[in-house]
This record gives sequence, C-alpha cells and structure tokens, in this order.
Amino acid sequence: MEVIVAEHAGFCFGVTKAVETVYEQIEKEKSNIYTYGPIIHNEIVVSDLEKKGVKVIESPDELKGINNGTIIIRSHGVTKEVHKQLEETGLQIIDATCPFVKRIHRIVEEESGKGKSIIVVGSKSHPEVEGIVSYATGPVYVIESPEMAREFSGDKKPEYTVVSQTTYNKNKFQETIEIFKNVGYNINIVNTICNATDERQSEAEEIASKADVMIVIGGAHSSNSRKLYEICAQKCANTYFIQTLDDLHLEIPESAELIGITAGASTPKNIIEEVQKHVRTNF
Ligand code: F3S
Repeated sequence: MEVIVAEHAGFCFGVTKAVETVYEQIEKEKSNIYTYGPIIHNEIVVSDLEKKGVKVIESPDELKGINNGTIIIRSHGVTKEVHKQLEETGLQIIDATCPFVKRIHRIVEEESGKGKSIIVVGSKSHPEVEGIVSYATGPVYVIESPEMAREFSGDKKPEYTVVSQTTYNKNKFQETIEIFKNVGYNINIVNTICNATDERQSEAEEIASKADVMIVIGGAHSSNSRKLYEICAQKCANTYFIQTLDDLHLEIPESAELIGITAGASTPKNIIEEVQKHVRTNF
C-alpha cells in the first residue's frame, strides 16, 4: 500500500509561534502563566502545559486579585474589549495573535472607519471571528455559508468590504463571493484566508482525489481540521477524522492502493509520525 503524507500537515507558523511562546515563558517564569483560552485545539499539548503549571482562563474576571503573572494571547487573537480588560489587570501581556489575524483586525478597523459595511465570512462563534468583528466601528455581518449569503438581505447602497476567517474553506469563500456579486452588492473583496490554510487545503484536496482512504488528524474543536475533513470527504468517500492514533479504526477496501494523511494546524508532528508509522507497518 502506498502512503502519502501531506507536506503541509500539522503546525502552521502562527500556532508554532504561540506554542513556543508558552514553553519559553515556562522556562523563564516557571509560574503564574495563563493563556487566554487553550493555546491550541489539541488536548495533548494543552494537558502537557497544564502539568507544567500553565492555567487556561476564559474570561478576564478570572484574573481578579492576581497581581503578578503573564497572560498569553493565542494565535486566534481576542476582541478589542478583552484586550483592554487584560491590559487593565496590570499583568504582563504577551500577544501571540498570528500576524495574519492582526492584518484582518487592521483592515476591518480601517475600512469600517471609512464608512464601509463589513462582511466577515466565517463561523460566528469562533473566537477569531469574534475578535475580527470587534474591530468594526460600524455595521458588520457574519456570513457562515453560501446558503446564508443567499438569504442575506442587506441594503444594496453601501459599499461592503468582505474579509474571511483565516481558515475558511477557499472554495466556499469563492462561492459566497459570487453570490454577493450576482445579487448586485457593491463589494470590495479582501481574501484573508492565510497562506498556510490555502496550501494545506489545496494539497489535501489533491491527495484526497487520488487516495482510496484519507486520514485527517486534528483536534475535535479545531475548525481548520474540520474544514480539511469536509474538503477531503468530498473527494474521497473513505475519509477518517481522528484526534490520535487511538481513534483510528481503519476499514480498508480490498482494492485500495493509496492511503493519504493530512493534519490540521494544531496537530503536533509526533502524532502525525505515529499515525504514519502505524499505517505503513500495518497495511
Ligand atoms: Fe496564522 Fe494561518 Fe496558522 S492565520 S495561526 S498561520 S492557520
């Protein structure tokens, strides 16, 4: 059986930077280190950090009464309001927001400041999107899917600036844009899907279209991993979504010749290695 592992599988640049920041901080500070939300959507990494004393907080209120320590903002970023509240705690803030996400904050703030309405294509409840939305100073809409774009009935007069969540499915973004254009909205598009996502999705799609079985490794709560799964499942009926090797119960069709493996941005290398080894040895 041939096994192909995607080159663009696993940690992206933004996640690598955020995780390294936490480990560096453990070396320096040893204690009183907090991350705003889990640093990545990977339970294994998060529980390792917990063992080393890193606490995950979900709200600035949890820092009340704490006078020294470091709070690390993860690669998704936070809302403008939360950023301000964290500053008010007086603790040291290390902002590991990915530069690609920060760029969207800047675009939204500027365009909104010029009086444009903003459309964010992405998942409304995702922390990255919540952060992006918070930088708008005027009308802002979140469109989660092409279906939602079809139902959108905003005013056609204003100019809209459309941005996307960094990990949005690029094919669906294109489809969404076409819908807005066809309906006659005056839109200015800034495709803010990040390069790492673009490369990862294109490669996964290419491998899945020739693979008989496709394995996507990613955290259960990782939105970019779920999107990878969606893309692969469209091309390969035998697509599996797993978090670790323990979840893998492969049923290989008799005629299968090629197994493809890819992984989301928050999947550590050692997990990809483990799955790859297992597949190569057993099939
Ligand atoms: Fe940044 Fe893209 Fe990763 S936005 S965190 S490099 S998926």
